[in-house]
Amino acid sequence: MRMSSKSPIRTAVFPVAGRGTRFLPATKASPKEMLPVVDKPLIQYAVEEALAAGARRLVFVTGASKRAIEDHFDSDQELETMLQQQGKSDLLNQLRSVLPSYASCIYIRQPAPLGLGHAVLCAQPAVGAEPFFVHLADDLIQSEVPCLAQMAEVYEAKRASVLGVQVVPRSDTDKYGIVAVEADRSPTSRVRSIVEKPKPSVAPSNLAVVGRYVLAPSIFEHLDKIGRGAGGEIQLTDGIAALMHEEAVYAYRFTGKRYDCGSKLGYLQATVEYALGHPVLGRDFRKYLENLDLDAIATPASTRRRSRRKR
Ligand code: G1P
Repeated sequence: MRMSSKSPIRTAVFPVAGRGTRFLPATKASPKEMLPVVDKPLIQYAVEEALAAGARRLVFVTGASKRAIEDHFDSDQELETMLQQQGKSDLLNQLRSVLPSYASCIYIRQPAPLGLGHAVLCAQPAVGAEPFFVHLADDLIQSEVPCLAQMAEVYEAKRASVLGVQVVPRSDTDKYGIVAVEADRSPTSRVRSIVEKPKPSVAPSNLAVVGRYVLAPSIFEHLDKIGRGAGGEIQLTDGIAALMHEEAVYAYRFTGKRYDCGSKLGYLQATVEYALGHPVLGRDFRKYLENLDLDAIATPASTRRRSRRKR
């Protein structure tokens, strides 16, 4: 992983207050950000990406049932002593590297689930008057240069807010913040307009914001003023739209593959592909998949009925 120590962005905000209803009952008592992809929870991938982009202050905006996230980034003396006594030094090192000593965690409780914009606004006291990252752990991005590190470089060049974007099928525009940009084909382009979850028929493009932001601190003034938007929530997208009236905002088409771990299918795809790329498990897992007799695997009766009907 490439480390970006010269990045001027020191703070990363992780909004983790959502209830993850799409994964119930798995997320009833445990946060969706703690769902593991192979052997690390989603939130750890998120933190590693932010650290690699130069962030040192990690701000988690939490809600109900999120204690497990705090525990995950806290040291566990009892477990460490046990591993030490058992001579399991590899595991001990893995455990200690979950959070390097140069990073600090701040937990802020979002008092009510009022939306992503409100969650980001809750982080203001910890962020102060500096640019900062926002990272949505549901969007897992695999890339050689971590996505936030790519975006920090764009920030460095433009000194303005940057949104991580990618092309999505037009039928999916109502799942994302959608931007219209000045130069359609260029990887970095000034945003002309942004709208939250437009229907495909009215979407200004199919360029979607996917859970990575570098934001100027002036966003807070706007988030403070805007009212509720789509879905009755205080939307980050609306705050960015207001910010754009006063300063430039750029869209950046990052290099990398994104997995939508907020959906079961995307989560399964990430699990399979990260397992195939895993340094220890990868080879055996590939062999397992190659020898898998798909026809011999039972299909749930309901799916069988549905696909028969389709035919
Ligand atoms: C949020 C944002 C949306 C963005 C998306 C990326 O939506 O509101 O603008 O495109 O994350 O994943 P959510 O997925 O929380 O509904």
